[in-house]
Amino acid sequence: MQRRVFSGIQPTGSLHLGNYLGAIQNYVALQDGYEAIYCIVDQHALTIRPDPQELRANVFEAARTLLACGLEPKRCTVFVQSHVPAHTELAWILSCVTSFGDLSRMTQFKDKSDQAESKGEFVSAGLFGYPVLQTADIVLYKAAVVPVGEDQVQHIELAREVVRRFHTVYGELFVEPQALLSPAKRILGLDGQFKMSKSRGNEIGLLEPAESVKKKLAVAKTDEKRKRRQDPGEPNDCNIYSLHQYVTDRAEVARIETECRRAGIGCVECKGILGASVERIAGPIRARAAELDAQPEIVRSALKEGAVKANEIAQKTLGEVRERVGLR
Ligand code: TRP
Repeated sequence: MQRRVFSGIQPTGSLHLGNYLGAIQNYVALQDGYEAIYCIVDQHALTIRPDPQELRANVFEAARTLLACGLEPKRCTVFVQSHVPAHTELAWILSCVTSFGDLSRMTQFKDKSDQAESKGEFVSAGLFGYPVLQTADIVLYKAAVVPVGEDQVQHIELAREVVRRFHTVYGELFVEPQALLSPAKRILGLDGQFKMSKSRGNEIGLLEPAESVKKKLAVAKTDEKRKRRQDPGEPNDCNIYSLHQYVTDRAEVARIETECRRAGIGCVECKGILGASVERIAGPIRARAAELDAQPEIVRSALKEGAVKANEIAQKTLGEVRERVGLR
């Protein structure tokens, strides 16, 4: 049997370049050589209580973008979490072998619960149990490899701990998952300060028209010590340069680095090259997304097919789990 890869992606609306470079690009590559399973985690999304209409639309939008990026239903499984009921049932069972203390130490939980409290909102039990559902997602498929961003490594470590505790109590059954970081670990947004994210509004949308990307780049920060065109710049203090490293070819990046240091290239020109590099990636994705927009049934049937394949595996594992824990 081929080794299994599993990852989950939040349906947060339109996906951005950071999602692509940090995760989706890796998903596409892993279709070869692994049995790859990718899940749009709509139940995780409920922890931020999105508008129901919006959630529905976002799930479809995520699926359309994933397919446009090159996930092919013939080479992998793409499905929606809530279409496979085994996830939540397993999450409950696993929550009974998950330590309250461990969950309290999750930095994502601490950040999000601090945010909620500072806004005077309550902290939901769903937010607290989020990593348990994530563990269930992964281990239902006995996935060995989980491509994620750096911020998810702690959750994968927790998943390993939960698996070990389950095994100690009930005997071996699952596979201990391993996080696989993409080379592009932390893509900063156009503010050059925070991780690229839609909620920060510092993103380059994957389906954003080239003109709009150009406008955003025009006002994006560069090396702030470089005040005039004739001043030399320091590429390592420039977020535009750091983005180049992920999208522009090597020789060109090397040239930009040298030229920036001796004021041989200005920020405007450098941003122009970045815009072109982004377009080389995003252009074809946008074109395929437009085709899928005209034929939404292709997206819907991919998700349907994905749910059938996922349910088959998930039901089998869940059957084994029920048996082990005495629910049968
Ligand atoms: N928590 C992940 C994120 O925010 C999404 C996710 C849910 C996930 N289930 C998963 C990632 C399982 C990997 C494996 O990005």
